[in-house]
Amino acid sequence: MIQTPVQSALTRIVYLNGDFIPQDEAKVSILDRGFLFGDSIYEVIPVYQGVPFRLPQHLARLRGGLDAIELATPYSDEDWTDIIIQLVAQNGHGNQSLYLQVTRGITGPRSHTIPTNITPTVLVMSSLLSTPMLEQVETPQTQSAICVNDFRWGHCNIKTTSLLANVMLRQQAQHAGVDEAILIRNGQLTEGAASNIFVVKDGVVRTPPEGPNLLGGITRDLLIEIMAQHYIECRQEPISQQALADADEIWVTSSTKEIAPLVSLDGSPINQGLPGPLWKTVAKHYIAFKRALCAPTHSKQDKS
Ligand code: PDD
Repeated sequence: MIQTPVQSALTRIVYLNGDFIPQDEAKVSILDRGFLFGDSIYEVIPVYQGVPFRLPQHLARLRGGLDAIELATPYSDEDWTDIIIQLVAQNGHGNQSLYLQVTRGITGPRSHTIPTNITPTVLVMSSLLSTPMLEQVETPQTQSAICVNDFRWGHCNIKTTSLLANVMLRQQAQHAGVDEAILIRNGQLTEGAASNIFVVKDGVVRTPPEGPNLLGGITRDLLIEIMAQHYIECRQEPISQQALADADEIWVTSSTKEIAPLVSLDGSPINQGLPGPLWKTVAKHYIAFKRALCAPTHSKQDKS
């Protein structure tokens, strides 16, 4: 396999069940329920200049997901934080994307019924993260999307690795030659295949309220917080597919995309195919928040 110079310069280290080991040595059993049933919970945590971003919030969501599927959390937040700080250091600090997964563990003979006395499998791995927005407010990476029917299950608020529906929905976008699938359930916006969605009309920002039909994104929550701090009105209320078509601006948010401006929906340009003025304002606030976090005087971990 051909490796890029950056990848080959550093063998990625992963954390698996208590050990820090090279990624290509990490192995998980075929009897792991994460493999057999997608019986597991995950998190994606960005790291900027060696600092895990919104770590307490990611750990809180992880705990909530584990509780929801009745999987006892294997570590305290302090233990998770130690593991993450060590892993970030072993992968050379800088900008990284951490992937954390807790599966139910290794089962006996395959059975839907959850066995008792099962030890969870814990994986944390790291990949390089390119920061799409930092320094790029004037020339951001824009996004395009199509609306598709949200045929997922009724617990989309749980960040489970059972993502086949999301994968199939994203594939519809891929076939249409666009970046993201915007999901519509009963005529209402839910979220993206792997993102949350914000809609701007006449200076007012709206995003669908939390509930079983969408994931409560960490980026979504932070953006709502930042807008409140800067007196930008953001309503959490249902949004129809028609309102999407009539929007002045649409933003796509996630831990890897940050806040990306959507400039085309179903083949029609949004804001003449350009990022909107409100996007520029919130992007600048978001970047300022990140810069403050990564300032040299800041402690090793984001306490926000
Ligand atoms: N996904 N909704 C869905 C369905 C998602 O998969 C994601 C992110 C989000 C945004 O959540 P956050 O802001 O916490 O990243 C919303 C991640 C990045 C992934 O699966 O890779």
